[in-house]
Amino acid sequence: MYRKLLLILVAALLLQPLAKADEGMWIPMLLKKYNIERMQELGFKLTAEDVYSVNEACLKDAVVIFGRGCTGELISDKGLIVTNHHCGYGQIQYHSSVENDYLTNGFWAMSQDEELVNPGLSVTFLKRMDDVTERVLEGVNDDMETAERKKVIDANIKAIKEEAIKDTHYKAVLKPFFQGNQYFLFINEVFTDVRLVGAPPSAIGKFGGDTDNWMWPRHTGDFSMFRIYANKDNEPADYSKDNVPYQPAQHFPVSLKGVNEGDFTMVFGYPGSTYQYVPSYHLEMLTETVNPKLIDVRTQKLGIMNRYQGADPAVRIKYAAKNARISNSWKRWIGENRGLEILDAINKKQQYEADFTAWAKAQKPEYADLLTKYKAIYKDYTNYNLTYGYYREMIPSNGMEIAYLANQMNALKDIYTAKELNEEAAQKLKEKLTERVELFFKNYYEPIDMELSVKLLTMYAENIDAAFQPDVYASINGKYKGNVAKYVDYVFGKSIFDDKAAVLAFINEFSAKSLKKLEKDPAYHLNESFAAVYKDKVYPQLKKFKLQLSALDKDYMAAQMQFKADKVFYPDANFTLRVSYGQVKGYTARDAVEYKHFTTLEGIMEKDNPDIYDYRVPAKLKELYKTKDYGRYEVDGTVPVCFVATNHTTGGNSGSPVLNADGHLIGINFDRAWEGVMSDLMYNPEQCRNISLDMRYVLFIVDKMAGAGYLLDEMTIVE
Ligand code: ARG
Ligand code: GLU
Repeated sequence: MYRKLLLILVAALLLQPLAKADEGMWIPMLLKKYNIERMQELGFKLTAEDVYSVNEACLKDAVVIFGRGCTGELISDKGLIVTNHHCGYGQIQYHSSVENDYLTNGFWAMSQDEELVNPGLSVTFLKRMDDVTERVLEGVNDDMETAERKKVIDANIKAIKEEAIKDTHYKAVLKPFFQGNQYFLFINEVFTDVRLVGAPPSAIGKFGGDTDNWMWPRHTGDFSMFRIYANKDNEPADYSKDNVPYQPAQHFPVSLKGVNEGDFTMVFGYPGSTYQYVPSYHLEMLTETVNPKLIDVRTQKLGIMNRYQGADPAVRIKYAAKNARISNSWKRWIGENRGLEILDAINKKQQYEADFTAWAKAQKPEYADLLTKYKAIYKDYTNYNLTYGYYREMIPSNGMEIAYLANQMNALKDIYTAKELNEEAAQKLKEKLTERVELFFKNYYEPIDMELSVKLLTMYAENIDAAFQPDVYASINGKYKGNVAKYVDYVFGKSIFDDKAAVLAFINEFSAKSLKKLEKDPAYHLNESFAAVYKDKVYPQLKKFKLQLSALDKDYMAAQMQFKADKVFYPDANFTLRVSYGQVKGYTARDAVEYKHFTTLEGIMEKDNPDIYDYRVPAKLKELYKTKDYGRYEVDGTVPVCFVATNHTTGGNSGSPVLNADGHLIGINFDRAWEGVMSDLMYNPEQCRNISLDMRYVLFIVDKMAGAGYLLDEMTIVE
């Protein structure tokens, strides 16, 4: 008996470091207070100031927001940045055509003049952040109604931002943390001349495609390179041929030392959103209603697209980015539901809530009915939330495409129905719309849109409450006797929005007289009828719920922090710069299945299958494999490709630098393992893993496969 107890004790001691989950996405400015000791315990050799400091160059100066939703990092003193292939995907696709198919063949500028300009792309540096909670809450008191409170806060925020960037070229962002219990101001510098330097072929950058997406073991070479350009003063400037490569305050040395199991890792980037502190009702809403319904719609969308894309290479290119976008969340939702169920997350939350309420009753009566209030809201909110999600799937979020195009005309309508016609604004808008229409038709294939429209209109009627059915169904069910396909034929037969020349002419000649024609267009009408339901019946109610929820969330967050007073809380992700730290580590995926922490080139060759699009290994890579021409990237007779670690990450962390104990770049974060994607709602240290690309594979591809070895000369490489 005694022996057994001792064994348990020893085991508990041994397990201790593992038991500390290292879950969390931490605020760089507060590492010193909350995290640096633990980070150093795990092996980190730098200080909190090395990571984030206002006055000295530090690691944060080498991290950027890439585009609108990704992270990137500086890897040379000439503005060279690396991010994911899937983050640069839109740009790579933009420069691609059937003749010059960079998606398929890859692209490498062999000198700076060959780099490609990307309209609309920007990168954002954080200059500094400040806690501005007090100033944001100035003039706010506890008796205020939520709406009134919001008004005061919004006005304060506006003033703080304006003052912070007065007379500078910086941009200010101010965001709530801990559901509005704290506020931080971010001063950013945004560069808009960002050029494509190179990308591997999709058979590397997207190897495994959507089959392997969100999965471990993984072999995707998910990277692309860009260069930031600045004016002669090293400041942001729109594209000009006189711009010069930007000189950053800091760039990451690239380490070829690689990783071993147990090594310290840190991910430094921009996680988008998480929901760690929501009540169990939120999990019920997602797992029982919203996720299953939206998964179904997307399964249908993907079925249609895949069929057409598989049949025609031109269609495959046109719909590549759309398909990837739809598939990505679709697969994540499926994993999220599964992960929450395996974790028994709803029961865990309910137990926690029962304890919380018991505590509140005894100690903080003002919080005792929080969960009852939540329950009342979620009862109706769930259906509105579903309807909103479904509406997005119908039109704005890769739904019926010409209906969405027709929707863009509303901006023109606004200008031409205003009391006074603003000619200049009209002209500008016409130019912008012309550009958009060109892009729209570059990636448009009518048979997909028609089939999709039939499917979507049918599903909406079946899945959404009668109260939210738009008036188009009156004519579908009346004039077209319920034959959705006939109605869709009519829309596409009569609308101008499936005809590029007609749309361009319509925009170009648009005047007050055009309004009648617009209103008669059936694609426009289709959009308007859905938009009307959303505007009149869904949005106003949803807005009310959101306001009520935001007030509850704020109280519940503050209450949870008191309930667990000795716990250090991290704020939900909100697309601000965060640090996640952890260790390189494999995991047990399911019964009897153990995963190692890394993959190699051998796995790519194992997956090689010329019959499956996602698994076609490029001839050049096979050649390198055959001749074992691995150079300094070789480890044990092969080349490492990806690795997993316990860093807590989410969407937006794509492209984030993965750093070792010395702060050197060892990987690029690009995904999470499917078994753990519920980490946005509940983290499970046993199964939540971030997936990173090993820098040795990146350099191997650039050097040996692309022959762009000149780029290595500008990097700082640590061997
Ligand atoms: N799952 C990754 C992320 O959430 C990669 C997505 C892009 N890749 C893809 N095959 N769709 O962004
Ligand atoms: N691929 C995701 C992104 O684009 C990162 C994966 C995740 O969700 O953790 O940000």
